[in-house]
Parts: sequence; structure tokens; C-alpha cells
Amino acid sequence: MIIAFIGDVVGQSGRRAVAYATPRIREQHHADVVIANAENSAGGFGINAPGIAEMEASGVDFFTTGNHIWDKREGIPLLESRANIVRPANYPGAPGRGISLVANTNGRVAVMNLQGRVFLPPLDCPFRTADRLLAELPPEARVVVVDMHAEATSEKIAMGYYLDGRVSLVLGTHTHVPTRDARILAGGTGYVTDVGMTGSNDSILGVRKEQVIERFLSMRPTRFEVAKGDIRCDFVIADIDEESGRTRTFEHMQISLED
Ligand SMILES: [Fe+2]
Ligand SMILES: [Fe+2]
Repeated sequence: MIIAFIGDVVGQSGRRAVAYATPRIREQHHADVVIANAENSAGGFGINAPGIAEMEASGVDFFTTGNHIWDKREGIPLLESRANIVRPANYPGAPGRGISLVANTNGRVAVMNLQGRVFLPPLDCPFRTADRLLAELPPEARVVVVDMHAEATSEKIAMGYYLDGRVSLVLGTHTHVPTRDARILAGGTGYVTDVGMTGSNDSILGVRKEQVIERFLSMRPTRFEVAKGDIRCDFVIADIDEESGRTRTFEHMQISLED
């Protein structure tokens, strides 16, 4: 089973990159399932129905999110109504779900979303949350993809080792900068600290760079708008053994719209 995971999609630039890259990921890499982190897909903050529909039309099957999921009020009901969207599972008492099965995989693929607690709000323990959710999984769900949405590299690496051999993939998101450490851990779990970003690379994390620099200079809130130039899609491709759930091959890649 080939699974593709697309790093944080930022605004319209990100959705353009998804529209360009997803058919190529499906054709060239024969992806069976395409997952994308959508927390910034609506204007850079949160999700909305048109943005999700647009990415589904581009070929994305499933969406993970993160701390920005709460930014757009109209996106929150989607967490309840849509089984193919998850939010971090360790939010206490939040709407929506933190784990869900991918449709059309006969219950074989589950996607879990977790959020770190270092330099982010003090949620429930993501490690113990993962233990609990894995214990509740149906036995046919052998392929488990975990989006570990976190700021600190150490916390993401710790989750990789903690879940090694128990899940198929632990994929870091949130920091929007791809890390050069994609590997398969000893127990067969594909791991990367950050998948990266899908959107404008001529930016600061997808946002117009002048606006972010102005915020650092003024130390006051400034307007943030999605940047437009040098659009790229960062993603990983994993070949996973459906019986054991172990990852056989794992690659970190990028598609540029200029290619
Ligand atoms: Fe993000
Ligand atoms: Fe985030």
C-alpha cells in the first residue's frame, strides 16, 4: 500500500500546489491514499468547506490538522460532519475526532493526529493519548499513520521512537520547514521530523515575508496574508506492508510548480 502525505497546505498558493502535485503523486508514485495537513488551507488559518472540496477534487482523500484548526469558525462543524478530517486527539473535550479510518481501504488504514505540548498549549499527554487510541483500534487497521503536529524537534523524535513498531508512519508537521531526517526506524516505522510546507516558498512559513519581518520589528500584531511566489509541495511517499503495517520504503520529496 502506497501512502502519500502532503505537508501543511497554506492558503490558495498551497491549494494550487495540491492541485498540481496530487495527480502527479498518484500517477508517478502510484499512491493509493493521499493525506494532507490542512490546518492552514483556508487563507492561512483553519479550514473551510470550499477549500476541503477543492483539495478533494484534486485527489486528496484525507486531512489532518493542528493548532490552527480552531482559527476559522466555519471549519469547526466539518470536524463533526466529515469522517475524513481529524484534529489533534489530545485536545480535551473538543469537537470532532482525533483518529479515523480512511474510506475505501476496507478499514485497513487509520490516521491519527496528535499535538505536541512544547511551546504550544498544554493539552493532554500526546504519548498516553496515542497508547489509548491504539488500544481501541480494530484489528484490521494494520496501517496506522500518525501526524505529530509539534514545534519541538525533540518531542517529535520522541514520539517516533515511542511509537516505533506500533504504527506505520510518524510524520512531523507544524513547523513548515522540511527536515533532512526521513528514515525507517528499527521497528519498521517511517519517521520524519517535519514533512514541510505546501505553498509559497518565497515567504516566511507561507506568509508574506515583509509582514512577518514587520511583526518582529514592531513586536505588535500585523496583518498576515498568504504569499504567492515560488510555489512548491513537500510530501513523503511510503510503501507499507499491509499485513505487518511496517514501512518498506520511505522517501521525502518536493514538487515545484516551475518544474
Ligand atoms: Fe501549519
Ligand atoms: Fe500548526
